[in-house]
Amino acid sequence: MRLYTCNFNSTPMKAIVLESAENPLVYKEVEKPTIGPGEVLVQMKAAALNRRDYWITVGKYAGIKYPTILGADGSGVVAEAGEGAEEWLGKEVIINPSHNWGDSPDFQGKDFKILGLPEDGTLAEYVKVKAEYLYPKPAHLNWEQAAALPLAGLTAYRALFTKAHIKKGDKVLIVGVGAGTGTFLLLWALAAGCQVFVTSGSGEKIERAKQLGAAAGVNYKAQDWAEELKHFSGGGFDVIVDSALGPDFAKLPDLCNPGGRIVFFGGTAGNIPELNGRAIFWKQLQILGTTMGTKEDFEAMLNLVNTHKIVPVVDEVFPITEAKKAFSKMESSAQFGKLVLTVG
Ligand SMILES: NC(=O)c1ccc[n+]([C@@H]2O[C@H](COP(=O)([O-])OP(=O)(O)OC[C@H]3O[C@@H](n4cnc5c(N)ncnc54)[C@H](OP(=O)(O)O)[C@@H]3O)[C@@H](O)[C@H]2O)c1
Repeated sequence: MRLYTCNFNSTPMKAIVLESAENPLVYKEVEKPTIGPGEVLVQMKAAALNRRDYWITVGKYAGIKYPTILGADGSGVVAEAGEGAEEWLGKEVIINPSHNWGDSPDFQGKDFKILGLPEDGTLAEYVKVKAEYLYPKPAHLNWEQAAALPLAGLTAYRALFTKAHIKKGDKVLIVGVGAGTGTFLLLWALAAGCQVFVTSGSGEKIERAKQLGAAAGVNYKAQDWAEELKHFSGGGFDVIVDSALGPDFAKLPDLCNPGGRIVFFGGTAGNIPELNGRAIFWKQLQILGTTMGTKEDFEAMLNLVNTHKIVPVVDEVFPITEAKKAFSKMESSAQFGKLVLTVG
């Protein structure tokens, strides 16, 4: 380990490379990145998948570029530090993948980027990032749990706290709790003292959510899922968080209490075909879009994790050499929580 390193040699490292549309997941040797002032090289211990990585591999994401090393999430040790970043050398860290947010806390600016496209990401032995995106790894988490946290944890935090302004006692519905983001929504809302309800396509995942503290859940594949939820909630929800959209989204306004908020950040099940707007204006609902989060959101999320000693839900850990298995598990939505790869 060196205090200040400008690495001009071309040492190789192994990484998962998005090589082409035909070969989206190639585990191969590539050049180890070299760092400049204010940057660090993190030696990865673990990296986590997000649906974004999957969308990129199947060509359903804006701005795809070949070749790119995938991965927004990771934990590791700072192996090299550029000028001005020396204090991080040897530290155990996680990385905030929300880069160049911009000036407004309300929305990201035009230079906003997510780690792992267009810039090389965390599914590699080393990743180069600006030191400003580093945070100490929460001490109560192992490498895999820490790697699971950043992207999904941040998105879920902003959706619930910054956008929906959840408060103790609120009735919160999480649609598709098996998602990586879904499990964080559950953990965050419970930590905030909310009464949390869930949907899932799997009865087993509903049971797992209940074991974590959910009050009740229904299978969104059942005909009468919305009526059942209304019954369970005793009338309706103050906050609903969705990342699926699709035809079922149209039922959500009817499930809201007056003044309720529906927040969403994804469309795993496709677009919304038709929406009856009357419930939205009559009940004075708010439908809020959100994406990733600011530095302040990330820091508040970490504070929540450290204060309550929250442990992310890791579904399964794969060696990086078996990344394809992890991606196919995500494709079939068989996971409950995060899929993590160990590196090195
Ligand atoms: N805008 C942003 O900043 C941002 C950030 C993170 C994620 N996202 C988006 O949010 C979505 C979730 O991301 P993720 O990484 O958490 O995904 P993930 O771990 O792959 O989870 C996907 C989950 O979607 C649920 N689902 C699938 N079809 C559904 C349906 N018809 N109705 C309800 N739920 C359904 C399933 O939940 P069950 O297993 O419980 O059935 C599945 O496990 C993706 O579309 C992703 O691109 C956006």
